[in-house]
Amino acid sequence: MPFTPRVFSGVQPTGSLHLGNYLGAIRRFVAMQDSYPCLYCVVDLHAITVWQDPTELAKATRHVTAAFLAAGIDAEKNIVFNQSRVSAHAELAWIFNCVARMGWLNRMTQFKEKAGKDRENASVGLFAYPNLMAADILAYQATHVPVGEDQKQHLELTRDIAQKFNFDYAERLAELGWTDGLFPMTEPIIQGPATRVMSLRDGAKKMSKSDVSDNSRINLTDDADTIAQKVRKAKTDPEPLPSELKGLEGRPEADNLVGIYAALAETTKEAVLAEHGGAMFSAFKPALADLAVSVLAPVNTEMRRLLDDEAHLDAVLDNGSQRAAAIAGPILADVKRVVGFVG
Ligand code: TRP
Repeated sequence: MPFTPRVFSGVQPTGSLHLGNYLGAIRRFVAMQDSYPCLYCVVDLHAITVWQDPTELAKATRHVTAAFLAAGIDAEKNIVFNQSRVSAHAELAWIFNCVARMGWLNRMTQFKEKAGKDRENASVGLFAYPNLMAADILAYQATHVPVGEDQKQHLELTRDIAQKFNFDYAERLAELGWTDGLFPMTEPIIQGPATRVMSLRDGAKKMSKSDVSDNSRINLTDDADTIAQKVRKAKTDPEPLPSELKGLEGRPEADNLVGIYAALAETTKEAVLAEHGGAMFSAFKPALADLAVSVLAPVNTEMRRLLDDEAHLDAVLDNGSQRAAAIAGPILADVKRVVGFVG
């Protein structure tokens, strides 16, 4: 069965969102919403794979929802919801826990990074995290997933799970008349100049909400003055900007700022260097700050407005969850029949 194109992606409700989340994920979600039917999910089940304060978790879920809407995602045309509201995610994740192999998950680099040295003390959920992500995607038979570079390995695992499921149950699937398998081979969509936005304090580290230095990131809730100040304080080197891409090699901080500029201006790094090559950072940084403020200020204003209207945000999630469940329900029912569950 050829699968109809459908987009799924998720953002974790942990801490506040920053420029990396905006350029690497949310803005790209907006860009896809007119070409495909899309589901954009606040993945609260994933969030609790590490401890979350309950009050903060609820707040962060509304925060991500507000960011989706403020960035321009149309929750009527597409679906915005939170993962815990649609039980198909957890149910399918259990089935995938029984499809995926220990060896596959042992190779996941994100688990190794997140668990750190104390693996014995990591939650079982953190280890099984990629199976839940596969369930998120395949519960909707999603064909395309816009994600950052760091999620590529999880998408490969999603395909491995889909393939093994289709293969293991091939006979049963054929009996039921599904000769092409139940799950698509989902493609990641990784593109754009700043899918990896780095820390403003260290060009070798990803911009992250867990960085102790708030100056390392631009938060979506930062006001114009704060944004300008953080750009001004960003770590750089004493050289002027090169005129060509090659000149950014070995200059991670310069490379990062040029990448951010290009992404914000929706152009390429080459084009930015063609315009600003030869400039000192004392001139480039104010231009970058102005650009960042002009792009982020409207999002920021709209987010604040939405965050004041909790009832509206909850209604959006409620509506989205019902529509998501209506898609996942019949797919999960098929999966259960294939597996041999009675009822
Ligand atoms: N793991 C993703 C991240 O940390 C979030 C996520 C969960 C996701 N489920 C997903 C992304 C499904 C894409 C599709 O960024």
